[in-house]
Amino acid sequence: MTNPAASPTQAPAAAVAGLGPMGSALARAFLAGGVPTTVWNRTRAKADALAPEGAGVAADLASAVGSARTLVTCLRDHRSTRELLESLPAEALTERTAVVLASSTPAEARETQAWADARGLDLLIGAIMVPTPLIGTENSLILYSGRKELLERSRPTLEVLAPRSEYVGDDPGMASLLDTGMLDVFFAGMTGFLHASAMATAQGSAAADFAPWAKEMLAILPATFDGLAAAVDAGEHPGHEDNLAMELAALGHIVHTSRESGLDSRLPELMHGLARTAVERGHGADGWSRVVDMLRKAPAPEPETAQAG
Ligand SMILES: NC(=O)c1ccc[n+]([C@@H]2O[C@H](COP(=O)([O-])OP(=O)(O)OC[C@H]3O[C@@H](n4cnc5c(N)ncnc54)[C@H](OP(=O)(O)O)[C@@H]3O)[C@@H](O)[C@H]2O)c1
Repeated sequence: MTNPAASPTQAPAAAVAGLGPMGSALARAFLAGGVPTTVWNRTRAKADALAPEGAGVAADLASAVGSARTLVTCLRDHRSTRELLESLPAEALTERTAVVLASSTPAEARETQAWADARGLDLLIGAIMVPTPLIGTENSLILYSGRKELLERSRPTLEVLAPRSEYVGDDPGMASLLDTGMLDVFFAGMTGFLHASAMATAQGSAAADFAPWAKEMLAILPATFDGLAAAVDAGEHPGHEDNLAMELAALGHIVHTSRESGLDSRLPELMHGLARTAVERGHGADGWSRVVDMLRKAPAPEPETAQAG
């Protein structure tokens, strides 16, 4: 998707390697923003598809880097990215910044940064926090961590992709850590909504009719997150306004309704189990934030969980 609102930029030429849905969106945002852009992809057809939009198509990565000052890579993961960069001639990235935008765990990001530092590469790691349609728009957000001077060096170019190009700290794993945490919140929210929708539709309602009521709960969450964060950081979990004993009963209603509706009830059972453990450990008068202490200790893994991914 192009960005008609983008204004031409003076940003120097860029190269994009890895043209899945996200890499293609990044390349299109550069082109829409007036950044001379060369693209490369392992499967050439995805690069050719960008030629009519003004992209230069390179036969190999070294030629794609060419005169670009910034190489943006958006491969599937960090391992394939390192392998790809390793295949470049040593001098190909001299005085250039390689910006790695594949998702990763924090540990993998730190590994990639150490790998680059050992080779003298100017490498910056980012985490894309928006879906493809938002790339290049004013709502685009990409987090960066590690070598701040590299973000500043490429900022005019990178802000074409995301006006909100935020530096979040010198730990190269920090952008990935925040990405992982934000996705944790996002998937938990989406899955909670889907479970509730399954309950609603099993009992004669429609998901679309339930959605406005679900959004009522969303409106409460910003202040709730602030309160939970303060409690977690203070290590104090007052239950003056609500307490776990009361919340355990409310969660029991979700579990029962889910089971009565013939649904997979693992999600409410998980929440109910956490609250029950906290109550059993004597925290019934505490607030919901006490659950963090239950989450901090990994249970003994089930055999199949131990083998998962
Ligand atoms: N899509 C989104 O909404 C979104 C949002 C945030 C973050 N991200 C992150 O952006 C990254 C790219 O995602 P995507 O959506 O564009 O789809 P994707 O399917 O993960 O992209 C795959 C890209 O990586 C290339 N690739 C994979 N293995 C390779 C290898 N060994 N050597 C060279 N190239 C290799 C593929 O090349 P071929 O075409 O040759 O297979 C393709 O260009 C992922 O890390 C994803 O988590 C995506």
